[in-house]
Amino acid sequence: MKYSFGLLGLAAVACADNVVQLTSDSFATEINKHELSMVEFVTPWCQYCKELAPVFEEAAGELEPKGIPFFKIDCDDEKELCDNQKIGIFPTIKSFRGTQVREVYNGRRTVDEIVTYMTRSNRQNVTSLYTMEEFNEFKSADKISLVGFFEAEDAMSRSHFEAVAEELRSTYSFGSAADVALAKTEGVEQPSIILYKNFDSGKEIYTGDIKEDEVKAFIKSGVRPILGELGPGAEFTWEGLPLGFIFAETKAEREKLTKIFYSFAKSVKDKIGLLTVDPAVYENLAATLDLKADSFPAFAIRGADTTSRYPFELQGKISELTEKAVGAFINKFLDGEAKRVPRAPTAVTVVTNDNFKEEVIDNKKDVLVEFYAPWCGYCKKLEPAYETLAMMFRDESDKVSIVKVDATENDSPEQVKSYPTIMLYPADGKSKPVVYAGDRSIVDLASFIRDNGTHGVKNEKVEDAIEQNKKEAAEKSNKHEEL
Ligand SMILES: *[C@@H]1O[C@H](CO)[C@@H](O)[C@H](O)[C@H]1NC(C)=O
Ligand SMILES: *[C@@H]1O[C@H](CO)[C@@H](O)[C@H](O)[C@H]1NC(C)=O
Repeated sequence: MKYSFGLLGLAAVACADNVVQLTSDSFATEINKHELSMVEFVTPWCQYCKELAPVFEEAAGELEPKGIPFFKIDCDDEKELCDNQKIGIFPTIKSFRGTQVREVYNGRRTVDEIVTYMTRSNRQNVTSLYTMEEFNEFKSADKISLVGFFEAEDAMSRSHFEAVAEELRSTYSFGSAADVALAKTEGVEQPSIILYKNFDSGKEIYTGDIKEDEVKAFIKSGVRPILGELGPGAEFTWEGLPLGFIFAETKAEREKLTKIFYSFAKSVKDKIGLLTVDPAVYENLAATLDLKADSFPAFAIRGADTTSRYPFELQGKISELTEKAVGAFINKFLDGEAKRVPRAPTAVTVVTNDNFKEEVIDNKKDVLVEFYAPWCGYCKKLEPAYETLAMMFRDESDKVSIVKVDATENDSPEQVKSYPTIMLYPADGKSKPVVYAGDRSIVDLASFIRDNGTHGVKNEKVEDAIEQNKKEAAEKSNKHEEL
């Protein structure tokens, strides 16, 4: 949206071109004009809001021609509006349909990812496919797409399929073909669903009842590669399953190991997810699985509870990771007979209502508190990083303390509106805790403690990691894009 000179007053408020700043007066009316819109809730003082600004601006520019507007709310000025929207951390990004909140955006804050997400959200929930050309193009356009083969009169199947599509369309493409000839070319009868994917077998066929839950379960299993590589989205793809991580430093080795384990992986696909991992991209993973951190290739299992771990004892030689030895190790695990490495005593201090005052308020430490819920996926995801963070600050336990509170069982401050909420109670400012809104990475959390804490603790390991991170940032982001 470009402002003309006649609107200079407005332009002075909105410092950028494509993102329009709204107030509580204009908010509802403006967003209600659009079928789909994106809104960022920010404050002038929040660092991550500043980092988001140019990204949001660019994404807005790319989507302007498609008629998807981007808006911005300053929550310092619009406290009531932001309270009504339950904005607990900044920035919060939400997509709206009219005035209805569609979804809180939890993806990465990159132009590409935001644009892809909104483009997908903008499609019809289910695209009707009429001709063979349309059908062929549709099923190969995306990494994963689903086509429902229903008779035109079969409103029941269609409505269940639409409901699933409505929920998952930001992630996958959904189409439907009523022409019985199209079903025939795919060798299926109506009603059925085919999930097309550009990996493994290429497609999965579903012929069961077309009911929401069943279809969702089918998709969940169908999108899992037989042997994938760890990357963004993996946690979601394998949610609820134990994972076997195959670490190898070079691409050639990972490919070789993929070949070695492929058929075994296929035979256990719905019981355990097997994934290759580049240990340079996932620096801390090996250590959190009780593997030696510098000896690859290596293999370890992480239990479905996401905390128990079962390292395979032979590390460092590709010749020792055989299908036979590792397969037997995995089978033993699946039979419940694997030796579980006892959980190391946690370095994170567990706090309840009984000791909150003592551990968090009545001391001279910078205390980082995570308010979590046991059922929250993002909290589970954060756990290994949070644990590592606590270990890193162990030597400074007189100045820094890393704490977690189960907010569903204990009282939590007003600012806790989503999980996890992370707050720092600085030694000299316990009444003014600082809410953390950054990425949930170890380095960012550690910098936050250093920069916002009273003691400004510079932990050697952390500083090293920050240096290292800076160096690898460019290369790493490239790697992530490829994943
Ligand atoms: C899917 O989209 C159609 C057409 O826009 C709409 O009528 C229908 O209600 C949507 N289905 C769901 C479950 O939202
Ligand atoms: C808090 O820490 C973040 C991350 O290091 C930093 O960018 C921000 O400026 C700090 N805020 C204050 C008030 O020091």
